[in-house]
Amino acid sequence: MSFDRIAPVYDFLSHVVYGKSMVDSQIYFLKRIPAMSRVLIMGGGTGWIVKELFAINRTCSVVYVEASQKMIEQSKQKIQPGDFSRIEFLQQTEIPGHERYDVVITNFFLDLFPEDKLTAVVKQLKNVMKDDGFWIATDFVNERKLWQRFLLATMYIFFHVVSKIEATSLPLWKEHLHAEGLQVKEQQKFYGNFIESVLYTR
Ligand SMILES: C[S@@+](CC[C@H](N)C(=O)[O-])C[C@H]1O[C@@H](n2cnc3c(N)ncnc32)[C@H](O)[C@@H]1O
Repeated sequence: MSFDRIAPVYDFLSHVVYGKSMVDSQIYFLKRIPAMSRVLIMGGGTGWIVKELFAINRTCSVVYVEASQKMIEQSKQKIQPGDFSRIEFLQQTEIPGHERYDVVITNFFLDLFPEDKLTAVVKQLKNVMKDDGFWIATDFVNERKLWQRFLLATMYIFFHVVSKIEATSLPLWKEHLHAEGLQVKEQQKFYGNFIESVLYTR
């Protein structure tokens, strides 16, 4: 699996297909992140989300885990020189388990895993959340409408060919979080209910 090839055009392509919904859905709950929070972002992509987060929250700090070197390079270019002390970039696929976080963010990340792998990923992420922490998960939801099924099928074929992702269809990510006992505190839908951002607590 590698998003290196797609990294230079990833944001452009997602904007062409989803317009502002990709950005709107991912920034929706950022304002809820308390001052001084330690934030874990898994699979953050090109890094625009950190720029947004740092602009609205002057005291949080981020551990940014990204598998793709090209995505990390792009992300670093978006950080203000004075903000580098607030962010640690980790180029890896493992969830950093040496610390517990106030906030975990997974945006269009859980959809990369087949059902059987997602169980362990969700468990591990829950384990790195503080007891009073929360988890912002933004991703596609399949209401089985024809246009949604078409977009999902096209995306999974595309990312399977270009990025060699493991999943071949959208996993039931909300069910996995529910099974781990996570509670939906608030949720917001975008793009004709095809994209959902959910704020979870333990
Ligand atoms: C579909 S993209 C979403 C990027 C970003 N969250 C966004 O919505 O714009 C998924 C990202 O997760 C990264 N990724 C995939 N598996 C990963 C893993 N196990 N750990 C960290 N990053 C991973 C990929 O390199 C890619 O940048």
